[in-house]
Amino acid sequence: MAEGDAEEREILAFVQALKRLHGYDFSQYAPASFKRRLRALRARCGADSIAGLGRRLEREPAFLRQVLSGLSVPVSEMFRDPWVFQALRRDVLPVLASYPRIHIWQAGCAHGEEVYSLAILLQEEGLYDKSQIFATDFNDVALEEAAEGIYPAASARTYAENYLQAGGRGSLSQYFHARYERIKFEESLKRNITFAGHNLGTDGVFAEVQLILCRNVLIYFNDTLQDRVLRLFRDSLVHKGFLCLGAKETLARTPVERDFECFDAQARIYRRGSA
Ligand SMILES: C[S@@+](CC[C@H](N)C(=O)[O-])C[C@H]1O[C@@H](n2cnc3c(N)ncnc32)[C@H](O)[C@@H]1O
Repeated sequence: MAEGDAEEREILAFVQALKRLHGYDFSQYAPASFKRRLRALRARCGADSIAGLGRRLEREPAFLRQVLSGLSVPVSEMFRDPWVFQALRRDVLPVLASYPRIHIWQAGCAHGEEVYSLAILLQEEGLYDKSQIFATDFNDVALEEAAEGIYPAASARTYAENYLQAGGRGSLSQYFHARYERIKFEESLKRNITFAGHNLGTDGVFAEVQLILCRNVLIYFNDTLQDRVLRLFRDSLVHKGFLCLGAKETLARTPVERDFECFDAQARIYRRGSA
């Protein structure tokens, strides 16, 4: 048997074990990038093969934490791509302001950097008190950390620069306390955020919202899973609701393309049409 075939079989067995043991299903992830991440995880863990990773997963349940952080890529930044947050502030929030209650879904929230960014944006625009943000991810470990709102102090400078570029009205430091090597965001920023587990691969609509932010998540999925998730987003949005995707993600040539109009091409913001 060729070496490549053997590796494919080991990957398949690993994916099945992860689903059987812990319920995480990576079978519909884009194969090339998934394989790269799995190989990197194998190298980092000093395993001699992917089958070795699978054996460790069987005998050591706590190994899941490392596996998830390697495979689900919970990497983010506050006010990541500041021009997107600027567009949300300038063009989207004034529309949302007309609703008596604002419901926002941030899907694939990783460690929460974007959700705290959104909370700050809403607060500065005087809309936070009537807003509810659902921040979801399928990675329970990342969600626990998101709910803490604690980040390395070394990131504070980049976050503060992004915040200003996104049109921040003050200084980001007014929203966190610095302690030793960490910064912790104010508890009051969490008051209208609900952190919850939600798997885009298997779970359905759970709320009707006016804005969905799901950036840098679809790129990891194959076409079938991307289409499922885009239909889920379409069905979760109110008429004229907004969908914001990542810089490398698009609705072009997808089954929901006709259900949306492009609102801001650079910021990848789409608006639900009447279809
Ligand atoms: C690269 S991060 C994106 C973080 C943030 N949205 C951003 O753009 O900075 C991708 C996130 O998607 C989450 N994710 C991957 N597959 C998922 C699934 N099936 N359901 C829900 N979340 C998923 C991962 O756990 C990870 O936290």
